[in-house]
Amino acid sequence: MKFDDTSITVAVVGCGGFIGSHLLKAILERTRWRVFGVDLDSYRIQEHLSSPRFDFLSADLACPDVVERVARFPIVVNLAAICTPGRYMAEAVEVIRSNYDHPRALADACAKSGSWLIHFSTSEIYGRTAIDSASLEEDSTPIVFGPVSASRWSYATAKLLTERYLAGLSNLEWTVVRPFNFVGPYMDFMPGVDGDGIPRVLANFSTALVRGETLKLVNGGVAKRCFTSVHDAIDFIFCLFAHADAGVGQAFNVGNADNEVSIAELACLMRSIFASIKDVPESDVPGVEVVSGEDYYGKGYDDSLRRLPSVAKAESLLGFKAKISLKDALEESLRWFVGHYAL
Ligand code: UGA
Repeated sequence: MKFDDTSITVAVVGCGGFIGSHLLKAILERTRWRVFGVDLDSYRIQEHLSSPRFDFLSADLACPDVVERVARFPIVVNLAAICTPGRYMAEAVEVIRSNYDHPRALADACAKSGSWLIHFSTSEIYGRTAIDSASLEEDSTPIVFGPVSASRWSYATAKLLTERYLAGLSNLEWTVVRPFNFVGPYMDFMPGVDGDGIPRVLANFSTALVRGETLKLVNGGVAKRCFTSVHDAIDFIFCLFAHADAGVGQAFNVGNADNEVSIAELACLMRSIFASIKDVPESDVPGVEVVSGEDYYGKGYDDSLRRLPSVAKAESLLGFKAKISLKDALEESLRWFVGHYAL
């Protein structure tokens, strides 16, 4: 696909979310394509609403007419999902609707219309990984989930079933993207300001730092994640657009294996970055506190202890490799958070 081809329109479902807002901006800046965007929320994309190359529909995929409309476009990127662990326990049914029922309807419609569906899944489909688990490979790593009583896995189960559904639909051109903890400006929300409940760890720690509250280390903060800059994630999507033939019918990990840290180490790093942003000694920055997963998130919380992506497939098929270091990604995110929510 040529980036200067003015006849191409991409549909982006979830264009107002964290990843969607960065993708929309990048498509408008780096190509001459048009975007048909769907979301219930538009606060992150205000600057684009008047663009002549952007059509915005305030709606969601629960409505069958919206599904049909989206599937008329030749490329469909689906980013819409409930994806904050704080909701996987008490709202399991809604989580499954959002992560299985709605994407399944969209997949059926795309199979009929012949659109290429780029579906955002999750690194969480690798399940309840152990602390010493090896790097996770798209096409060979076995997957283990917790019991039905651990509703943490409602989300991953729905996401994995959607992947299997896409792969099983004859006539569907699909690509699955599995994000590994993307971070950057506009990630999640500040509780009580532009959202409620518990956001993911970056937004949670940023909120605590700005409010002068302790950073909560769930189960001691021993779990490890590979935090990946959202700008690398957007570059991945452009590599996929550029190598569509190699990407169709494949699932890809999108992550930065060099950026692995435990959550306790993440708290340390964020405290030190925050001290330098505010130009105060680290001793003035809030400390950490250990909490239990069930006390913090509710009954049924469980965790993946290590999520280390194998990145070989994206590199060999699409020529993509994440480049942005953990320190740079965290610094950009935290500076943005402090400025955006200046109290
Ligand atoms: C979540 C989603 O479930 C995944 O779908 C998604 O792919 C992933 O985020 C992502 O951002 O890519 P998870 O990594 O568990 O998965 O999300 P977080 O809520 O950010 O938690 C990361 C780790 O930090 C967990 O071990 C959690 O227990 C811990 N945590 C979280 C804390 O110690 N303190 C907090 O305040 C929040």
